[in-house]
Amino acid sequence: MMKLSLTDLTALKQQHQRITMITAYDAPSARLADAAGIDAILVGDSAAMTIFGYDQTTAITLEDMLLLARATRRGTSRALLIADMPFGSVQVSDAETVTNAIRFVKEAGVDAVKIEGAGPMVRRIAAVIDAGIPVVGHIGLTPQSAIQLGGYKPQGRTAAAAERLLDDASALERAGCVAIVLEAIPQPVAAGITRALTIPTIGIGAGVECDGQVLVWHDMLGLTGDQGQGFKVPKFVKQYADLGHEIAKALAAYIADVQAGRFPEARHTYAMPADERERFETDHRK
Ligand code: KIV
Repeated sequence: MMKLSLTDLTALKQQHQRITMITAYDAPSARLADAAGIDAILVGDSAAMTIFGYDQTTAITLEDMLLLARATRRGTSRALLIADMPFGSVQVSDAETVTNAIRFVKEAGVDAVKIEGAGPMVRRIAAVIDAGIPVVGHIGLTPQSAIQLGGYKPQGRTAAAAERLLDDASALERAGCVAIVLEAIPQPVAAGITRALTIPTIGIGAGVECDGQVLVWHDMLGLTGDQGQGFKVPKFVKQYADLGHEIAKALAAYIADVQAGRFPEARHTYAMPADERERFETDHRK
């Protein structure tokens, strides 16, 4: 199984073959995604919600992300591995951002980091690229800036806002990004950006004309549920399985079996030689 390289992403765009990306946060999930033939695995800072139970991505730390990225690396062989640089790890200075990005490469062996934003962030992203670390951009709805954006709302819905997104995407391409995630923007805007760029666009809530698509593992497998934080699965999610329901059924069956003494059965237990058993039971007979 040949490991994909970042240049394969651009080749896929040139060949009009759609790119598949999914988030994963641990080795077993990455192994499943990799074996299924996914092109790229994203250790997204959506882990703040899906794994750590926070209600926003800004809560997750650099150390949390590195831990998840290292685990995911161990399950990834063919797919590209990309990790989100979390809020706080890219805000302070170019130098600190580069130092933090280097940790993802050295400690987790990622192929690229993903950094949200454009405008003033373009220079910072360029600094990371200059240090030799490939960067995937992310514009549109950027959850780390949800407060400034007025919440988790679609972006680029006026001609002027769409124009700004196109300018941002072009600036990120010029800075040297290897791909750009487009989140929650109208399909015609994503289509225009996709046509204007030579690097691939990966859409989430951005329509079918992007060069590829990404979904969050827990959302697409029916694991998001409402864990008390009042999450709603976004409109752009297609749920491909209802694993939450399957897990609930399995847990209920386990509880019922244990309570009724149906589990463990003889086949789940270990035997011992008959003479040893006899000796033990003789010694401990009441
Ligand atoms: O954190 C994440 O999972 C992401 C995807 C939604 C693109 O950034």
